[in-house]
Formats: sequence, structure tokens, C-alpha cells
Amino acid sequence: MAKLTVRDINTHGKRVFARVDYNVPLEEKDGQMVITDETRIKETLPTLRLLIEQGAKIILAAHCGRPKGKREPSMSLRPVAARLAELLGCKVNFVDDCIGEKVEKLAGELPPGGILLLENVRYYNEEEANDPVFAEKLAKVADFYVNDAFGATHRAHASTQGVARIVAKRGGKCAAGLLMERELKFLGDELDKPARPFVVSLGGAKVSDKIKVIDRLLEKADTILIGGAMAYTFRLAQGYKTGKSLVEPDAKDTATSALAKAKAKNVQFLLPIDDVVGTPVKTDKLDKKGKPVIEFQNPKTSGDLNCPDDAAGLDIGPATVKAYSEVLAKAKTILWNGPMGLFENKLFAAGTNAVAQAVADATQKNGAKSIIGGGDSVKALNKAKLGDKVTFMSTGGGASLEFLEGAVLPGVAALSDK
Ligand code: 3PG
Ligand code: MG
Repeated sequence: MAKLTVRDINTHGKRVFARVDYNVPLEEKDGQMVITDETRIKETLPTLRLLIEQGAKIILAAHCGRPKGKREPSMSLRPVAARLAELLGCKVNFVDDCIGEKVEKLAGELPPGGILLLENVRYYNEEEANDPVFAEKLAKVADFYVNDAFGATHRAHASTQGVARIVAKRGGKCAAGLLMERELKFLGDELDKPARPFVVSLGGAKVSDKIKVIDRLLEKADTILIGGAMAYTFRLAQGYKTGKSLVEPDAKDTATSALAKAKAKNVQFLLPIDDVVGTPVKTDKLDKKGKPVIEFQNPKTSGDLNCPDDAAGLDIGPATVKAYSEVLAKAKTILWNGPMGLFENKLFAAGTNAVAQAVADATQKNGAKSIIGGGDSVKALNKAKLGDKVTFMSTGGGASLEFLEGAVLPGVAALSDK
């Protein structure tokens, strides 16, 4: 990697300001906020253990949720400090602010290998505004800067970019953490020169969200498999009826161009050949506005590429599952981003689960390298208990997508070169 990593610096006795992504899902249980998925916390442990071993004074900064400059108690990082202490088996100090005298005092008192977790940086609007005065305040406790928050590298905020710039200006080092290094290796280097066949499986709701990724991967992939609601915008572009499926009429031309580019580049571009369709039904449940919640029910397999007027396409059908699984079984490199259907509803989860299984099988049986681009695909794999059967699962959602698009991520750009 062209960027400095924590392995390259000697932090002994120095105050290291480490940005981590502890934006974890929290749920209230008996009046307490409970962490429902601690993956992002666990993934920072190698970096933290290395810094402890080096004898750094570790100051951890993170955001949680989008409190928009308010002290929103449900978005406090305090529960994360408690869990981190359990996972590391050592004391983790917590301070209920991220700037100010209290923070400076506690950071100054840390012994080598000591840890202080700061409160949610987004309790200040200045964080997202990347306010230079606020960044100076954060940087008061930073001799070195480490970024292990891959999931937040697409944000040019004070803690992801501003502090790094200040530390660099003072002649201090800004290094990538070990998680950041792994993310860049798998989503970057490994996909740059993939073992072939390189198969990309893309799903999700919108073509417009994925078009830049599709465009870039058409330069590299041997096969692209399309699923999710996005498939129906392609159908629309091909002149089929899409019923009540989620489609983006404005993205029709984009879909048509992607099909043309695939042909010109000789990339096999597969769209679903059958679907599972469902009909919207009003339930007894009420939404926040007091309106009945609409749920999709009555799943039916349909081989007709024209969707019935009263139904929506909600999952890939069994013939598509078979075709996609056969392609994945021959792959040597796989990138999967986005579910194949409305997998949160178990009536429409079969396609996503089958792709998860096919990706896991290709990895375990054929030695394929499988890289999962974060977000919903990771959720689906974990739900199917296949998370440990793939090569790499990104901790980023938006960040992985932007990285795969080839965008320069501000949080990465701010790090020192080797
Ligand atoms: C994420 O969960 O995607 C990252 O932590 C970034 O959060 P954000 O989308 O609120 O900036
Ligand atoms: Mg996000």
C-alpha cells in the first residue's frame, strides 16, 4: 500500500488520535442502549492491540448515527466503551465530550497503552462541516493521527480529514490502521488484478446508485449478474411491462447504455430470466403517520418477463438462481454488492440466500476469492450464517461503493504517503 500504516510508525509514549467507525446499530432494551451488531468494534481490535503493544496513548474518536449537532443520548458512544473494554480485556476510559479541557486532561493522564474513547464527534455540527477551528480543538490531543474508519472515509469531515491535515502540517505522521489497510487491499488491489473468471454480482434497489460501479466494473469483469429491484429498470429499458415493481424511468437510458457497453466490451451481462412476484397488501400495522403498513405477500414464481399489472417483482426466480449459481461456481474472483431481492421479507429472500450460498461454496470448494462490498450483502450473509465462509466482508456501506466507483476517498487521501 502506498500509504503509511500503523506498522510503519513508532508511537511509543505518543498521543495517537485514532478515528474509528463505531457507527454501530443500537437498540433500546429496558431503558439501556444495546449494541446489536458489534462487527465494526471487533474489526478495530488488531489496530488497537498493535497500538497498545507499541505503548501509544490512544485517543479514539468516532461518530454514531446522525445527531445533527445535538447531544442525542440514544447516540452516545458510552455503551461502546464498555463493550470495547470487555473485548480487549483492559480498561477503556470514556469522556462525555470530544473537545475541551476535560478531554485534554484525561488524554494527558493516559499511561502508555491506555485508551480514552471520546463522545460522539457529531454532537457538534462543526464535525460534518469540517470546521477548521473545531478540527484544531480535536487535534490538541494528537501527536499522531491514525484512521481505521474505512466506513467513514468517503466523508470529508473534521475527524476524518481536518485533523489529519493539521497533524501533517505540524510534521506528525498520519497512518492507516490495519482494518483500513485490509479494506483497501481487498476492495482495491485484489480487484485490480483479479484471478479469472471475475464475476460481479450486483443487486439493490436503484440503477442510479450503482451505475458508476457498473461502468467501472465493465472494464474489469468477465461476467456481471444483476438482481434486486434494479433489474426491473433494465426490463423497462428493454420494453417489458414492470407492473408495480420499483423502477426508475429516468434511469432507462443509463440501463440501455450499460447493456450496450457490456456488448462492446464482450462482458457477459446477465439479467434475471424469471422472478418471484408479490402483491401489495394493507396490514393491521400502522406506520409513524398512522397509515396502514403495506406488505408484499402472495409470492409466485413467474417466467413471464412482463410483470402482471397488480404485482411487483421482488426476488430472482429459481431458474435465475440456477443460472447465477452455475456462473459463480466457475468464478475465481467474486465481488458481491447488493441483495437479489426484498430479503428482509422471508417470502422474497430465497434468491439472496441462494447467491450467498453460491458465493460461500465457490470460496470453500473452489478456492475463489470472494469480496463482499458491505451493507445489505453483509447483513444477508450474516443472517444466513455464512459470514465466515467468504474471503472478506467490507465494514463500509457508502464508502465501499464510492471506492469501487474509483472515487478518491478524502479520509484515505489525507493519510501520509509511505
Ligand atoms: C456508515 O455507517 O455508512 C458510516 O459510518 C458513515 O455514516 P454516515 O453515512 O452517517 O456518514
Ligand atoms: Mg451511510
